[in-house]
Amino acid sequence: MGDIVVKDLIKVYKIGRSEVIALRGLDCTIKGGEILAIMGPSGCGKTTLLNIIGGLDRPTAGSVKVNGVNLVNLSPDGLVRHRRENVGIVFQFFNLVPTLTARENIELPMRLAGKDSNYMKTRTDELLKLVAMETRSKHKPDEMSGGEQQRIGLAVALANDPPILLADEPTGELDTTTGHQILLLFKQLRDTLSKTIVIVTHDQRIGQIADTIMTIVDGKITGSISGSEFTAKVLGMPATNPIPQVPPR
Ligand SMILES: Nc1ncnc2c1ncn2[C@@H]1O[C@H](COP(=O)(O)OP(=O)(O)O)[C@@H](O)[C@H]1O
Ligand SMILES: [Mg+2]
Repeated sequence: MGDIVVKDLIKVYKIGRSEVIALRGLDCTIKGGEILAIMGPSGCGKTTLLNIIGGLDRPTAGSVKVNGVNLVNLSPDGLVRHRRENVGIVFQFFNLVPTLTARENIELPMRLAGKDSNYMKTRTDELLKLVAMETRSKHKPDEMSGGEQQRIGLAVALANDPPILLADEPTGELDTTTGHQILLLFKQLRDTLSKTIVIVTHDQRIGQIADTIMTIVDGKITGSISGSEFTAKVLGMPATNPIPQVPPR
């Protein structure tokens, strides 16, 4: 579950007579249960790629297979179902409804999926516990810190138990310590719930939680390394652990 295979993806935005090529033949494979991080300069196509995987936008050409289903071939209704059942999205600016409490925000996607109120109550309690926010269920977004709002944002994304989580700069608005805690929470969610997680980020500590880090430049993948190699590079150390010394006899 949660496999994503992207082939020769092209996205051209047309504004009046001018065209912007956001993705120019991008290929990538994300295995189910993997944490993939995407890094790259502003405007290189990171958000465009996430939006296409999440079914929020359609590519100009190429294919995106999620669990073997090519999103390009889905009808508008099929794409709506893909968004509701397969993906949860975590945003940079949390995207909570300001007039609703934390509990009501988490319930919203379940309400849209037609779940009954008993189910929603039990599931919301479970989610609040998962993101360690049991004590904030009655708080509205402006009564919570950025980190707390992002924890609720994660619970909202997980509400309908999608196999894939997509996160677009989820720590961009948080201080370093809080941002790190959120990254660790993503790892915990992958480890305990085996979600496939795609995170766009500029945070160099991503190497500690991601299996793979891909770089995009100008709408194409330019590199891919493991999280541990990335961390080693950031810290300026060799990637492999030193070979253990054989004790003298
Ligand atoms: N809706 C849109 N209409 C026109 N151009 C867009 C639109 N969305 C993104 N772009 C352009 O596509 C390119 C890639 O954008 P984006 O995927 O948002 O980059 P990133 O998330 O890596 O900063 C940029 O040049 C951006 O200006
Ligand atoms: Mg972006």
